[in-house]
Amino acid sequence: MTTQRGPRQNFKEQHLQAQHLTVQHPKVLFAAPEVAPFSKVGGLGDVTGSLPKALLKCGVDVRVVTPLWPGVMQKIKEAGCKISTLSQRVSVTYAWSVADAAVHRVDSDGVPIYFLEGDYYSGDIYPWDLNSRTVRPFAAFCMQALELEKVTGWSPDIFHCHDWTSAFLPCALAWHRHYRGMKQKSVLTLHNVAHQGMFPPGSFFEESGLDPSCFNIGGLEFYGQVNLLKGGIVSAAAVTTVSPRYAWEIQTYESTQALSGVIYAERRKLTGILNGIDIDYWNPATDPMLPECYSAASPAGKTACRRELLKNTNFDPAYEGPLVVCVSRLVEQKGFDIILPALKQLDSLGAKFIFLGSGQRWIEDALRNAAAANKDSLCFVPGYNEPLAHLLYAGGDIYLMPSLFEPCGLSQMIAMRYGTVPVVREVGGLIDTVTDADADGGGNGFTFLTYDTRGMLWSLRRAIERHSNAKAWNKIRLRGMEEDFSWNRPAALYRDLYRSVL
Ligand code: ADP
Ligand code: GLC
Repeated sequence: MTTQRGPRQNFKEQHLQAQHLTVQHPKVLFAAPEVAPFSKVGGLGDVTGSLPKALLKCGVDVRVVTPLWPGVMQKIKEAGCKISTLSQRVSVTYAWSVADAAVHRVDSDGVPIYFLEGDYYSGDIYPWDLNSRTVRPFAAFCMQALELEKVTGWSPDIFHCHDWTSAFLPCALAWHRHYRGMKQKSVLTLHNVAHQGMFPPGSFFEESGLDPSCFNIGGLEFYGQVNLLKGGIVSAAAVTTVSPRYAWEIQTYESTQALSGVIYAERRKLTGILNGIDIDYWNPATDPMLPECYSAASPAGKTACRRELLKNTNFDPAYEGPLVVCVSRLVEQKGFDIILPALKQLDSLGAKFIFLGSGQRWIEDALRNAAAANKDSLCFVPGYNEPLAHLLYAGGDIYLMPSLFEPCGLSQMIAMRYGTVPVVREVGGLIDTVTDADADGGGNGFTFLTYDTRGMLWSLRRAIERHSNAKAWNKIRLRGMEEDFSWNRPAALYRDLYRSVL
């Protein structure tokens, strides 16, 4: 006997079906300050440029919104992307005036990216000095992301925010007079807890429309200051960070001082998901920026890359000894206060070094001076240079990354994929990706724990010594090249997390 279905039942079924579809294929809007290859400053840009592509493949309906900073339109054109400008601007009120932006849509490998062009996005991406005025672009950007569906017609289920620069968005969903009723959820990813978006409140609450009552210990107040990251952590539906080890570290006082108490209290909604890299872009077998391609099975091209690198950095292209490379933001996080003293002992190391990077002045000056004093063994190339970075990853033997702290780190993964063996400190994501070659069962790099020059040199010397044994070296190198650093697994974990918050 068949059961007669009443209209009420049908409605309920349809509703459940729609709910099921939403949960199966959540609609997620990434709100990000930088997106590779258009506006990359560091690894965050790599992640927001490549994770969405992997999410798309595993059933997530994902889009990205990001500011159109100066120079980004040029990058979009260079990438050969088609741009369409939406007929309506996205408009919010911030600091008693209209903050509106033109919305340009670019489809990047199937992922729609909305670039917002407005007066607020006319300076450098990251301000040096934080106060209620310099955070305006980031708060207004988050409000524009919340309003975006009005001009795109596409309504996300989840806003996926990144670091303090978009942490205002979960705060707005919780405490803003216009947005607190919205049904959408937010996920906040912590790429680097060292930057928290902290500043004296000034006129922030009047300007932003956040309810001033959230300026308390359970909201975004932190020792008398506004702390946007803290506000995001307490108000987001879920918080992730970029490696399981860092998820553990940031709950300790040693790593994040007073914020560790907040993170510990919120630990039930915290997950550490190891970053991946875009293995199609970072692929020595197809990389168009290399003079010759190569792979684990056919490694000859790596020698051609090495020669080209030596030539471009004014070293003898026939040099066959160990070549140590480093591509980095020049900031304390990356371990320069233990690297610089080691450069005084270059003669005893028996290796050549090439550094590429930009950042803090004192590090740039010290590297420049060290290079001038050691012309035969040290080269420093200041600046940000994507093609040269590829050549360093490909042409080097050893990749140096002795970070003070490292939420995940992508450079060591890229280096391994290019057959360049990492020397890293046992911290954060470096622990989750690099195992010491002298550990039981062997490994893919060389590691040390104590943050000092001696500790680093102990591992660096082991790597340099092992390099002279071609067979042993090749084994370590191959292990790195064969690691799976793709986004496949992490993207599935993010999809499951989205499903769990809906
Ligand atoms: P972080 O995001 O902390 O700087 P990651 O290791 O996660 O560190 O990511 C750094 C990314 O930025 C890598 O893709 C690296 O190749 C790139 N990068 C850093 N400095 C430079 C530079 N000077 N030129 C080119 N690429 C760089
Ligand atoms: C931050 C971290 C780095 C991480 C990157 C991407 O810049 O410093 O460790 O790999 O974000 O998540």
